[in-house]
Amino acid sequence: MSNKPASAAYTGQAYPITDHTHDVVVVGAGGAGLRATVGASQAGLRTACITKVFPTRSHTVAAQGGVAASLGNMGPDNWQWHMYDTVKGSDWLGDQDAIEYLVRNAPAAVYELEHWGVPFSRTEDGRIYQRPFGGMTTDFGRGPPAQRTCAAADRTGHAMLHTLYGQALRNNTEFFIEYFAIDLIMDEDGRCRGVIALKLDDGTLHRFRGQQTILATGGYGRAYFSATSAHTCTGDGNAMALRAGLALQDMEFVQFHPTGIYGAGCLITEGSRGEGGYLTNSEGERFMERYAPSTKDLASRDVVSRAMTMEIREGRGVGKKKDHLFLHLDHLDPAILHERLPGISDSARIFAGVDVSREPIPVLPTVHYNMGGIPTNYHGEVLTLRDGDPDSVVPGLMALGEAACVSVHGANRLGSNSLIDLVVFGRAAGLRCGETLTAGEKQPDLPKDSADLALSRLDHFRNAAGGTPTAVLRGEMQHVMQTNCAVYRTGETLEEGSELIHKVWKSAADLGVTDRSLVWNTDLVETMEFDNLIQQAVVTMDSAKNRKESRGAHAREDFKDRDDKNWMKHTLAFLDQSSQTVSIDYRPVHSYTMSNDIEYIEPKARVY
Ligand code: FUM
Repeated sequence: MSNKPASAAYTGQAYPITDHTHDVVVVGAGGAGLRATVGASQAGLRTACITKVFPTRSHTVAAQGGVAASLGNMGPDNWQWHMYDTVKGSDWLGDQDAIEYLVRNAPAAVYELEHWGVPFSRTEDGRIYQRPFGGMTTDFGRGPPAQRTCAAADRTGHAMLHTLYGQALRNNTEFFIEYFAIDLIMDEDGRCRGVIALKLDDGTLHRFRGQQTILATGGYGRAYFSATSAHTCTGDGNAMALRAGLALQDMEFVQFHPTGIYGAGCLITEGSRGEGGYLTNSEGERFMERYAPSTKDLASRDVVSRAMTMEIREGRGVGKKKDHLFLHLDHLDPAILHERLPGISDSARIFAGVDVSREPIPVLPTVHYNMGGIPTNYHGEVLTLRDGDPDSVVPGLMALGEAACVSVHGANRLGSNSLIDLVVFGRAAGLRCGETLTAGEKQPDLPKDSADLALSRLDHFRNAAGGTPTAVLRGEMQHVMQTNCAVYRTGETLEEGSELIHKVWKSAADLGVTDRSLVWNTDLVETMEFDNLIQQAVVTMDSAKNRKESRGAHAREDFKDRDDKNWMKHTLAFLDQSSQTVSIDYRPVHSYTMSNDIEYIEPKARVY
């Protein structure tokens, strides 16, 4: 299997290119991209932020329940307990040095957001309000649930994103808004030198050169049919990394959020269970008491999603088809609903026709988050296997947020650890840029073929004249992923899924794009997004087929137990573009902490 970048000697139509040079080029303007942008700008580096949507429309805006940090505003808490919960939540696949970095830096990152203006909800005495969330406990899992999730009602991501955008503007970031990044520029030494992008509103092409390129392009939830993710969540950066010959890590771990609205897929925050909501089956039973006697509805997401799937399978689902369950908030004080859960009260009304103060919400586990992504260390630097070193840094390239796999979430992320991941590692990346780069340093000339890979892709899809519309293949991909790579998996479903998903990718040879223009060509952009999604779908399915154990969100019915002896290791999946085949390698899990202040947390059975 070749691990060389997919290259194409581009010989097609000449596309004029506008050149830009910056010290740092950030791709993506969600929470992680903006936080890194702010940090790099504050370090005096000339920073560009390229984004395919207006910054405040990035998917961070949809994050609801909150951001985890052991502030201890509602009761005793500390970073060691947060670390224990995160390691346990990850089913011991998280790298403990990175987890220590995350939880130790979390309180300062939240206070920084507060000082920048995030309108957090408040306690009576004016401190940041914190609510319980799944898997967050006290006293190393022995005590009651921790109230650790800092909330701005149920619109925390919205509040953070707007604040961070304001800070980026204040620090003179240069924004390139509605630019679609096509591919990375890699040189022959394997250094990333920037990115090629299409300006959507006028069809011009742009080459961004930087000492450091940072991919903060989010997850790829839209590889599935039912997802809480926006339609823009197509994991463009992950696919760029694959085409650059880099691996994606732990892609088999796809998180299903227990409470997506049945049918519509919109998120109903876990914060609703944090505020006292609970799930019931067709018998009116609070079934989580059987699956997680101690934490019940506040067990971690993989546990709750599996329990819901079992209830439905065993015939205790609700509705005509008995294919979903109920989430009750109707017993809560209407004042609490109004003050702390106004957003989901609206969503339930609009998308399920439900008045949450009177009726339960129909819900179903729905794809929500990708634990896998581009492997990085806790500075945000992308890692690759080189000369036997699994932690070798790819020069010039960083990845952050859902695009990255640091790995702090391991096999299963705890709710509210995503927003904190964005700001802690966004800040870390900005600091690292400040430490390692010199503002305005002259950059070597780019390789002559620097735009070939991007232009050949663009030109290929723009002129695609086959008989299959992109929407048809996208639908097929989403159906295969939803059916064959779901909450529960078996060797059989994954073998079949692998055949089917590779077949979908092969069928892309017959894609047809009808609009040949370059200006606001949504047909073309959706096709390039589909091309990004299908590559990630293929590595997800094949990574899942390969991992023969159950861990976190990867629940195999034919290998029911976690197998630390053989599988406590990260999957690295490489994709050969020409043969369309996946090859798998591994990285060891970091079984050490960042400092001597805490010992390695030894694996044990994960019970809630
Ligand atoms: O349920 C939620 O509010 C989602 C939070 C998260 O994914 O971290």
